[in-house]
Amino acid sequence: MNSNQEVKILAIESSCDETAAAVVVNGRDVRSNIISSQIDIHTLYGGVVPEIASRKHIERINQVIGQALETADMSLDDMDAIAVTYGPGLVGALLVGVAEAKAIAYAAQKPLIGVHHIEGHISANYIENKDLEPPFLCLVVSGGHTHLVKVLDYGVYEVIGRTQDDAAGEAFDKVARAIGLGYPGGPKIEKASCLGNEDAIYFPRAKVSSGIYDFSFSGLKSAVLNYLNGCKMKQIPVVQEDVAASFQKAVIDVLTDHVVRAIGQYRVEKFAIAGGVAANTILRNRMETACKECGVRFYHPSPVFCTDNAAMIGTAAYYDYLAGRRDDWSLNAIANLRLGER
Ligand code: KG4
Ligand code: ZN
Repeated sequence: MNSNQEVKILAIESSCDETAAAVVVNGRDVRSNIISSQIDIHTLYGGVVPEIASRKHIERINQVIGQALETADMSLDDMDAIAVTYGPGLVGALLVGVAEAKAIAYAAQKPLIGVHHIEGHISANYIENKDLEPPFLCLVVSGGHTHLVKVLDYGVYEVIGRTQDDAAGEAFDKVARAIGLGYPGGPKIEKASCLGNEDAIYFPRAKVSSGIYDFSFSGLKSAVLNYLNGCKMKQIPVVQEDVAASFQKAVIDVLTDHVVRAIGQYRVEKFAIAGGVAANTILRNRMETACKECGVRFYHPSPVFCTDNAAMIGTAAYYDYLAGRRDDWSLNAIANLRLGER
């Protein structure tokens, strides 16, 4: 640690289609948070193309890191550690960040800390909620993951529920594509839903036999596709806004039901949401109301810290740093890394 006892971490995130770098001081003080989104290019293909994502990361990563240091008004020499997402995610995309972080850490002789992407999403809650400390319950809903997690301590997690098939964000993206809204689906469905009737169509709320807190969204996606086909066969016009609103309600109903049951069973005092889908205002409002009814404090990150960013990786890495966790040059990208595995 440097003389003024501040821990400064340069964090890198490249697990999907955002090339991101941030400088985070003492875990919760974000000095810069640079995100170069590739959404425009992937929109042309209706979803993330892994090969293109990797290439774009390579093109942009040095610039993004330079900008993160410049915005924070710091140099590489000022850093106490270099943190990077090493999984889960697209392996080619992850490798760009991991190779970059290793090269920087080696050249600048700084410690290297590999961070789990989901741990980053959960840790995003610490950035603006300075009083939030474990233990708490967290619902992680992103494009690749739907996890209900007990955060027992910093870096200590117990996953009590996970999706058996599609992630919540993935369902938003697939349904958006099916009703012609395009990519990325989440924000577009949310916008369309504001003009629709959420009770117009009843879509099933799946029950999963594998575990009482597990999720399944592929049946819901199929129900929407069946509904669309039915309309086509019967030559009934599809009201995009009603499908969006009714689908969104079905997802949020299932998520809320699981959360309320888990809060009751585990008697937690704090509940947080995380991941890209947590940027959804209707979901946030439902969770806030549910928490009020259960007498539980509700936490959520601002939308910019819900979707992929590197500040959340710097925050997670800070607690690893304090715990003395360091990685060596064998750190590798792991596409299907599970939470809690190191
Ligand atoms: O966390 P994230 O940026 O990347 C992953 O780790 O997957 O999440 C991206 C996902 C996408 O599926 C996107 O459609 C969804 O989050 N998303 C939303 C909203 N904003 C982003 N879903 C619902 N409502 C939103 N406002
Ligand atoms: Zn993510």
